[in-house]
Amino acid sequence: MTAQHVSTALSPRPTKIAIVGAGSVGASVAYAAMLRGSAQTIALYDLAAEKAEAEALDIAHGSQFGSGATVIGGGDITCVAGADVVVITAGARQKPGQSRLDLAGINVKILRSLMPQLLEQAPEAMFMLVTNPCDVLTVAAQQITGLNSSRVFSSGTVLDSSRLKFLISKKIGVNPRSVHARIIGEHGDSEFAVWSNANIGGIPLREWRGADGTLAFTEADLDAVRDEVANSAYAIIQGKGATNLAIGVSAARICEAIINDEKAVLTVSTVLDDYRGVSGVAMSVPSVVGRGGVERVLNIPLDERETLLFRASAGQLSAIQEDLGL
Ligand code: 2OP
Repeated sequence: MTAQHVSTALSPRPTKIAIVGAGSVGASVAYAAMLRGSAQTIALYDLAAEKAEAEALDIAHGSQFGSGATVIGGGDITCVAGADVVVITAGARQKPGQSRLDLAGINVKILRSLMPQLLEQAPEAMFMLVTNPCDVLTVAAQQITGLNSSRVFSSGTVLDSSRLKFLISKKIGVNPRSVHARIIGEHGDSEFAVWSNANIGGIPLREWRGADGTLAFTEADLDAVRDEVANSAYAIIQGKGATNLAIGVSAARICEAIINDEKAVLTVSTVLDDYRGVSGVAMSVPSVVGRGGVERVLNIPLDERETLLFRASAGQLSAIQEDLGL
């Protein structure tokens, strides 16, 4: 076997992320993925070909200062071909004061035409919904494609959990990566924090004390933190018209868990099957993410209040799904 053949035999297939939609969110996913080296090739597809080309070129021009990933873009859907992960960001986005669920109808319609085309281009890919309402759209995308729930999921509350860790970290002065706390349920107004198992270094968050020995959080403080997380997007949309940067890097992070087969636990959203009695609704719970997509949904302990909140979140989503015939 010649050296050329050996190197070909040894070099793994180049990794690729395809992002559908070159709006502010799609471009942010692509930019974050380039900087982080989430994949060797990053493709940005949009019907608005010029926009996708321009966003891709603008990212590629800085690629040498980042991971050096190849960044391509345009209006030809074949640029999605062979992707390991297809990230869907296309669709209508919230206007100030509009809820994510308000977007459901129009964005389900977009998916109905988009998903079959994407599956044709990338039949082996994992499909991640970022477009909102991402939970409802995950149910629609799975029904449209018929794929196993491990392969069609949404970024869910990965971003919300990051917001939660940020707020707690700011209050107690511990690195957000060492704050083990999660938001689960709908990526939206009915999301909630799992305070019962939140901890820092094994110390339950409810027992965390400041340097002066006083408890860092009362129950009212915890409620206020959860509300600030749930309202973050509204506040940012009010101020700058959209959120894009944090969701962009969150989506890139999830892609890495798949491409690198990390078996990382992330609060992505998948269609649940008899999870605490909930079926047919996509919600975020801690799940193991690896090469096979969402490989295992973890049945985490919830206290009585959290179980009620979980059921309430499921009820919100299933009501919207019923209206849409999903
Ligand atoms: C966010 O939470 C709008 O779902 C988007 O930033």
